[in-house]
Amino acid sequence: MASCSTSSCLIFSFSLFLLILFSSATTDTISANRSLSGNQNITSKDGNFRLGFFVPSGSPSLSYYVGIWYNKIPLLTPVWVANRASPVTDPAMSELRISGDGNLVLLVNHSNTGVIWSTDASTSNSTVVAVILDTGNLQLRDESNSSLVFWQSFDYPTDTWLPGVMVGFNKLTKRSQRLTSWKNKVDPAPGLFTLQSAPTGATSQYLLFWNLSKEYWTSGIWDGDVFPSVPEMSWRGVVSFTFINNTEETYFIYSANDPNLKIRFVIDSESGQMVVLTWMENTQSWMFCWAIPKFSCSVYASCGPFGSCSYMSRPSCSCARGYRVRSQNEWDFGDRSAGCERITPLQCEQNANNSGKDGFFEMTNVRLPDSPNTLAMAASREGCELACMSNCSCNAYSYKGSSCFVWHGGLLNVQEQYNQADAGTLYLRLAASELQSSERNKKRVVSLVIIGAIVLAILFSSVPAILIVMKKRESRRMIEKAKAMQSGLVSFTYNELQQATRKFSTKLGGGGFGSVFKGSLPGSNDIAVKKLEGLGQGEKQFRTEVSTVGRIQHVNLVRLLGFCSQGSKRLLVYEFMPNGSLDSHLFRNAPSSHLSWKTRYQIAIGIARGIAYLHEQCRECIIHCDIKPENILLDASFNPKLADFGLAKLMGRDFSRVLTTLRGTKGYLAPEWITGVAITAKADVYSYGMVLLEIISGRRNLEQTTAEEAGTRYFPTFAASKLIEGDAAGVLDSKLGPEEVNIEELGRACKIACWCIQDDESCRPSMGQVVQVLEGIIDVHAPPIPRSLLLLASDVPQPINFFFECTSNRTNSNCSGTKSHTSSSSIINEKS
Ligand SMILES: *[C@@H]1O[C@H](CO)[C@@H](O)[C@H](O)[C@H]1NC(C)=O
Ligand SMILES: *[C@@H]1O[C@H](CO)[C@@H](O)[C@H](O)[C@H]1NC(C)=O
Ligand SMILES: *[C@@H]1O[C@H](CO)[C@@H](O)[C@H](O)[C@H]1NC(C)=O
Ligand SMILES: *[C@@H]1O[C@H](CO)[C@@H](O)[C@H](O)[C@H]1NC(C)=O
Ligand SMILES: *[C@@H]1O[C@H](CO)[C@@H](O)[C@H](O)[C@H]1NC(C)=O
Ligand SMILES: *[C@@H]1O[C@H](CO)[C@@H](O)[C@H](O)[C@H]1NC(C)=O
Ligand SMILES: *[C@@H]1O[C@H](CO)[C@@H](O)[C@H](O)[C@H]1NC(C)=O
Ligand SMILES: *[C@@H]1O[C@H](CO)[C@@H](O)[C@H](O)[C@H]1NC(C)=O
Ligand SMILES: *[C@@H]1O[C@H](CO)[C@@H](O)[C@H](O)[C@H]1NC(C)=O
Repeated sequence: MASCSTSSCLIFSFSLFLLILFSSATTDTISANRSLSGNQNITSKDGNFRLGFFVPSGSPSLSYYVGIWYNKIPLLTPVWVANRASPVTDPAMSELRISGDGNLVLLVNHSNTGVIWSTDASTSNSTVVAVILDTGNLQLRDESNSSLVFWQSFDYPTDTWLPGVMVGFNKLTKRSQRLTSWKNKVDPAPGLFTLQSAPTGATSQYLLFWNLSKEYWTSGIWDGDVFPSVPEMSWRGVVSFTFINNTEETYFIYSANDPNLKIRFVIDSESGQMVVLTWMENTQSWMFCWAIPKFSCSVYASCGPFGSCSYMSRPSCSCARGYRVRSQNEWDFGDRSAGCERITPLQCEQNANNSGKDGFFEMTNVRLPDSPNTLAMAASREGCELACMSNCSCNAYSYKGSSCFVWHGGLLNVQEQYNQADAGTLYLRLAASELQSSERNKKRVVSLVIIGAIVLAILFSSVPAILIVMKKRESRRMIEKAKAMQSGLVSFTYNELQQATRKFSTKLGGGGFGSVFKGSLPGSNDIAVKKLEGLGQGEKQFRTEVSTVGRIQHVNLVRLLGFCSQGSKRLLVYEFMPNGSLDSHLFRNAPSSHLSWKTRYQIAIGIARGIAYLHEQCRECIIHCDIKPENILLDASFNPKLADFGLAKLMGRDFSRVLTTLRGTKGYLAPEWITGVAITAKADVYSYGMVLLEIISGRRNLEQTTAEEAGTRYFPTFAASKLIEGDAAGVLDSKLGPEEVNIEELGRACKIACWCIQDDESCRPSMGQVVQVLEGIIDVHAPPIPRSLLLLASDVPQPINFFFECTSNRTNSNCSGTKSHTSSSSIINEKS
């Protein structure tokens, strides 16, 4: 069969074509004569979503569910499940079909009696079809009239809130359309956590509930604009929220401003938080944006009975002392509802008249468990203890403010290292043997300490000279180290830094990467010591990174002088900046402390030079990733220096995540952090533009605007529109007198700031160009208002925006706005 005639080839191809067309033609519809079974599936028109049978990824059992998932991403991500509590074991024997009464039903054993799921809609004698739409909605509707919809999956969401899904209350059916978490990572059955709007739609707010009974988070009342408890909403937006209240229903929906963005809100089965995720094309993974409540320990009973939550440990859930995980399998899949169980039974359970052998383990500084019994008669802690001891079902007690609380049954909602006003001390009842181990340890520690003290006492009393010699040697060594710092990076021991900072007594500030303390070395200037937190890398890598950062020197960059890497401790030593950070000067209201225009302009140029140096003149481009006023420090003569550069890299590769979980940096993050394209130096340019606007206006961009600017609540919008009107002075800090401001400099600064915050990074200038513009060497056109800002400026009703405008389609973008510029070079006019 070396060749075949042309005609037979043609016939063959044609029949193959027909075969393909009829056997696996993709369709988006289930109709009376087309049902789904086995691995058959339907795909929405543009191929965004697919409906069929699936097994949750990671599931150890072969339980099949009918669901909808993203078709265009390789990670199986179900957004809706039909039979969430009743899986089928054999999809080939199961069938999803239109039943005789016009409903979509799931049958097992191909028998009409084995209906395990149905849409249960009243379809009033129509010929119905089920259609999967490109929004991820499955509609049961009239075959010939597509606006006659009898049922849709968007009205029955599971754990995922897609754009367009309605979460609210139906006044006619009295049904709450809520989101319910999965039972665990691999089981779509309804779990313990739900998000719903206020019951019966009484108020316009959202609540998170545990087991439909215990509220643990509320959004606060919708003010027509934002929810008070969701500060992320005041960011410029990828999504717009709408609240609908009509005679039939009250509900919220949101839409993604960029239809190409894949975004979903999910009630996490493990943490009980609602997390917001966007799909990152470059990493092919879901990126975490933010979560409510912010911390998983705020979720009610998130660690289950006898579990304990702590921010300090990772994972945050563990079992209380003397307890172990009840069901390791469920625990591993993220289901904490079974919680923990006693390792050793209480003595009183075994021998009713010998209860004296049980004891109590003291837990200080905890959030006390929920629903205690209050005992009135106990007048002291001892009395309270006795009361608990006398009843074998009592598991713990607490004596607080002359009240005695005891707990029978499971201890729910305990949190350790809880530094709130309502913290207390919990006495956990344990079998004597459980307590002994800790007593024994304690004893061992005590005896070690005593021996140590004796040895020391002998040393100190008999040879005091040693001490003096040691001290002298130490201080000489410190002086040498201080000297060495002038020429290169110095390695310190933890003890030395502890001494230099007087046991970290003077805190200068705290950032996302750790707290900073003031210190001093003998014979040298003051230093700032940063204690790094949450560092996930080894010593060798740390030293490599630190030595890279240590080599970077520029007059506008804070110098790294030394470091400490000892055990798990990582500290950095910087030059001390006596005038603190820019934010403390910029946003302070006292007129005496205001920065003059001249100083501000010098700060703006200086920081631009520092960033330009990082981007363009270092051996490899260093992206700062966290430019904000808090990271701009001022020396004695108000020369600005940028701090924390290189730290994003130091803290691990996944800086997108580090940054989005930081507080206070949100107003400065470029849109591409969310859209998931690769981060370039232009992300810093964006943040710089935001900071520059704040330097000009003397207030936070994210702050509320005053009444006169009503309608443009976000400051950069206001600034940009003022600029277009030719009124640059209108955005100026009122603390600055008009006479002291150089209008030409102001115009330059405003224009370049607006260019820096363009959505499309290719429209933003380089930092080198920013420096040249500020120096007056080159000039720029008036900038377009960034598209995302325009959205807010117009009078669109309720343009509520969660975080950033995402411009994902960057290949065919041209700079939006009044003028069209296609690249950053075209915005620059060389001055002759
Ligand atoms: C389904 O059946 C109807 C009538 O029996 C027919 O008109 C239609 O073409 C069929 N559809 C398919 C996809 O076979
Ligand atoms: C979807 O259906 C096609 C054929 O109809 C099949 O080849 C494919 O494996 C199915 N995909 C899934 C994910 O079930
Ligand atoms: C399906 O068939 C199996 C085996 O024949 C039987 O055990 C099961 O009960 C049937 N299920 C339903 C819902 O009829
Ligand atoms: C459906 O419509 C037909 C014709 O209009 C009518 O005869 C029949 O009674 C209807 N059935 C129901 C259940 O309403
Ligand atoms: C389709 O259904 C809608 C809603 O009931 C109705 O308003 C419209 O007239 C129908 N269109 C046709 C062509 O029947
Ligand atoms: C919805 O509208 C009804 C009737 O106008 C009103 O009584 C109710 O308070 C509104 N609900 C909310 C949450 O605004
Ligand atoms: C949730 O509530 C139901 C009914 O109120 C109760 O039966 C069930 O035990 C609760 N679940 C947990 C984990 O407490
Ligand atoms: C109580 O203790 C006594 C002596 O220790 C013992 O003889 C008796 O059996 C115990 N009672 C019960 C119910 O265990
Ligand atoms: C122990 O406490 C439980 C719960 O308060 C109570 O029901 C039980 O009667 C008590 N038992 C004794 C022996 O007091």
